[in-house]
Amino acid sequence: MLLANKHILVTGASADSDIGLAICHSLASQGAKLGLLGRRSEALEKTLSLLPAKADTSHYLCPFDLTQLDGISEQIKRLVETHGAFDGLVHSASFQGYSPLKTLKPQQISQYFDLNFAAAAMLLSAFAKQQQSRPGASLILIGSAAGQKGLKGRCLYAASKAALASLVKSAALELADKQIRVNCVAPALVSGSKADKQFAMLGEQQSQALIAAHPLGIASPQDVADAVSFLIGPHSRKITGTTLNVDGGFLAG
Ligand SMILES: NC(=O)c1ccc[n+]([C@@H]2O[C@H](COP(=O)([O-])OP(=O)(O)OC[C@H]3O[C@@H](n4cnc5c(N)ncnc54)[C@H](OP(=O)(O)O)[C@@H]3O)[C@@H](O)[C@H]2O)c1
Repeated sequence: MLLANKHILVTGASADSDIGLAICHSLASQGAKLGLLGRRSEALEKTLSLLPAKADTSHYLCPFDLTQLDGISEQIKRLVETHGAFDGLVHSASFQGYSPLKTLKPQQISQYFDLNFAAAAMLLSAFAKQQQSRPGASLILIGSAAGQKGLKGRCLYAASKAALASLVKSAALELADKQIRVNCVAPALVSGSKADKQFAMLGEQQSQALIAAHPLGIASPQDVADAVSFLIGPHSRKITGTTLNVDGGFLAG
């Protein structure tokens, strides 16, 4: 129970996110008390119902749209007033999709950047405020291998995730004197509903090539959750400002 009495906010905690659900299950299994953030209450209720039952934890739901950037600071303040200061954050909510250059529209840029980057920056800002996180807190942004490698048709998603790897470095320096750590976990393709959709779109031959580009095989949601648990927990106490790739070797080649 490495995370007993730790209070952690997880964004993208809706049950239909394979990764968000695995992260919540993993953190709750280690004793953490979770704030589950997403837009749909019913999808958060579903996650709550799938967490390991434990008498002394009181997970709670936080239905909120993170593209309301002006409201993030107030939302975190209210959660702290009700549930106490935070020991951790996992920002997993994201906007994913395709944005080929030929058909790019200006409003697509904010669609990707508001949620994937600006909400992350505003969450870090809120967690940096006096009394809102405890010393020793660990803040994690879920990035992507796409942020470190070109991907045809996905320039906005990739760039929004690349920005997170930069954000954690500066934030880590700014928050180190408060003993707050900031890191990024960057998966490549992860098994689950999103990967299944991608395989269906690509067809057999291209799917096999994509799988082969991950020499250790594609990661599971649990592999991502294990990396998050490591960076949230005490065994990474001297690690800050880094990106931990969970990519089956995708970026090594
Ligand atoms: N799946 C992959 O293969 C893969 C690979 C590399 C990186 N990643 C990263 O891993 C993370 C999880 O990926 P995922 O595919 O499981 O989930 P996702 O579809 O990217 O997002 C997870 C959840 O975020 C919530 N969300 C969306 N917009 C929101 C908003 N405006 N405000 C608050 N919550 C919002 C949604 O729940 P509601 O609809 O209830 O709000 C959604 O279920 C993401 O950061 C993704 O970029 C995924």
